[in-house]
Amino acid sequence: MDRRHSLKLLAGAALAPAAMTTLGLGPAFAQAPAAAPAPAAPAGPFKLPDLGYAYEALEPNIDAQTMTIHHQRHHGAYVNNLNTLSANAPVLTAKPIEAVLADLTAVPETARQAVRNNLGGHWNHTFFWDLMTPGGAKEPGGDLKSAIDAELGGFQKVREQVTALGMGRFGSGWSWLAVNKDKKLQIVSSLNQDNPLMDGARGAVVGVDVWEHAYYLKYQNRRNEYIAAWWNTVNWDKASANYKKAIA
Ligand SMILES: [Fe+2]
Repeated sequence: MDRRHSLKLLAGAALAPAAMTTLGLGPAFAQAPAAAPAPAAPAGPFKLPDLGYAYEALEPNIDAQTMTIHHQRHHGAYVNNLNTLSANAPVLTAKPIEAVLADLTAVPETARQAVRNNLGGHWNHTFFWDLMTPGGAKEPGGDLKSAIDAELGGFQKVREQVTALGMGRFGSGWSWLAVNKDKKLQIVSSLNQDNPLMDGARGAVVGVDVWEHAYYLKYQNRRNEYIAAWWNTVNWDKASANYKKAIA
């Protein structure tokens, strides 16, 4: 397999065969047709970060099995793909992840879509794990609350609009509260593993993963119930820190 073909395959890779088996998709989906097994991804330089809490810690809002598969298999696949990609795309480790995502045109064209998908996936999920916690505050406070009240009409409106964009995202993606280039709060959604940094935002404050892999085992097609439950998991101290960093 030449390098171009390899990178093209990685662009669409998000679900390892082992994950398909776990999700019950059956052997027809789980078994690769190729005779030779794929080589194992290098162990670095990218690492799967720890959650910072137990897989069951967000029950009953998000179940332990979903958290385990989401973290180990889905996020793990992005990390593995990045470690394979980085051998041919040194830009991946030449500057901070946020800087790479903010200027994807600096990535060689042959690797650009794969980097967009997998580095976006790695950054988004790392952000997502850090944004959740068991037993956190129910609403934003401090400077973030003041900014939400002044710019977006209060937390309930933000909650409604982030939920609405998450519900409206056809297929896979994310819904975000972000800080735009003018240091103003904005609510946006993104497709696949795109995020506001790719559109010039200074940072993300809150983001909810609305891929089916984030909720299907517990909620099946009821994305609305998942998003409603997800709000109970938000770490508002972390969201405030995200906001402070983005406007600095
Ligand atoms: Fe996800």
